[in-house]
Amino acid sequence: MSSATIASRGLEDVVVGPSSLTLIEGQKGKLSYRGYDVLELAQHSSFEETVYLLWHGYLPTAPQLRDFTAELSRNRALPDEILNMMKSLPKNSEPMDVLRTSVSMLGMLDPDYKDSSRDADTKKSIRLLAKCGTIVSAFYRIRSGKEPIAPDPDLHHACDFIRMLEGRAPHEDICRIFDMCLILHVDHELNASAFAARVTASTLSDVYSAVTSAIATLKGRLHGGANEGVIEMLEKIGSPDNAPSFVREMLAQKLRVMGFGHRVYKTIDPRAVMLRELSRQLGEKTGDNRLYEISKKVEETMLAERNLKPNVDFYSSSVYRMLGFPNDLFTTIFACSRVAGWTAHVLEQYDNNRLIRPRAEYTGPRELHYIPIEER
Ligand code: COA
Repeated sequence: MSSATIASRGLEDVVVGPSSLTLIEGQKGKLSYRGYDVLELAQHSSFEETVYLLWHGYLPTAPQLRDFTAELSRNRALPDEILNMMKSLPKNSEPMDVLRTSVSMLGMLDPDYKDSSRDADTKKSIRLLAKCGTIVSAFYRIRSGKEPIAPDPDLHHACDFIRMLEGRAPHEDICRIFDMCLILHVDHELNASAFAARVTASTLSDVYSAVTSAIATLKGRLHGGANEGVIEMLEKIGSPDNAPSFVREMLAQKLRVMGFGHRVYKTIDPRAVMLRELSRQLGEKTGDNRLYEISKKVEETMLAERNLKPNVDFYSSSVYRMLGFPNDLFTTIFACSRVAGWTAHVLEQYDNNRLIRPRAEYTGPRELHYIPIEER
């Protein structure tokens, strides 16, 4: 290749453009949104406030937050077309496929579908963020033979999601823990799904198409799909005593242990530190710390055997299980928060757009000549 340089495999350490959304300091194990440490936000902020911060670049005043929260709540309900479409799907459809298809369809039902102004794109982002949790909970109920539950605009995002899923409002401590989980998952710089969203947006495709690309990308086991791999593994392990031999056997077979390792963090992922503590607390609260204890043993073994540390998907799995979420919804729950990050990236991309179009290092044959089919 003439002027272009050859990037590392998997674009490792390649900086593809500026962003003022999220900073990962991989050596320090630090993550900040718009300059605020994510752990501080998880402790003191709310999901709604953190999304406002990410989208606008500053923390809202009380009236700004009240208006934003109300606007999100108002937009949670789904059009009948989406509910009817979900009712027509096979009950065993993968929840991530349902979310991807519903988001894609929502685009066609959006009143501002043809309007690509900043104002219309912001409204689309609010509608998308508001509706993702309703989609996930509605499909869960439909596949269980139950009627979907309509949103309650008086409840916060985290709490209403659990109510729409389970049919009753959870205790406020449970809402708070889930709200913290949502904050920890909001954004993570140019991870694969945010990159996919930005690539799609850079062609001047619309917000819904960009988020559809992102959901398709998050689904994979090396990305957001890892949290479902973790819970399957923890359940197979069954008890803390089995964990070391189970993990060693996986490593001997050269299998990847889901929820460990990271492209950017050279030390522990700070989100994992907070999720580990939430997992411990939930174990105490529920009187069943088995999943937490198994997770701790897996963590110790991975550290001793490979010096690999947990990422966000490891302890979020036991937390989600103890919050009562079904295993195969875990990645969609990740998406319900991350949609705020994807839309922030899409809006930032539109604000300073240039088509993302890299090059490949060609390794195939050259200068061949066509051979008529009867001579091959
Ligand atoms: N289990 C076992 N070995 C792992 C591992 C894991 N979870 N993560 C990395 N490794 C090993 C690789 O096998 C490789 O070893 P090798 O050099 O002997 O072949 C080495 O560590 C480097 O891995 P590599 O795949 O090149 O790192 P990456 O930066 O491309 O991958 C991940 C990052 C996240 C994809 C990777 O750590 C992984 O597959 N983790 C499990 C999936 C997961 O949890 N994803 C969620 C990420 S938030």
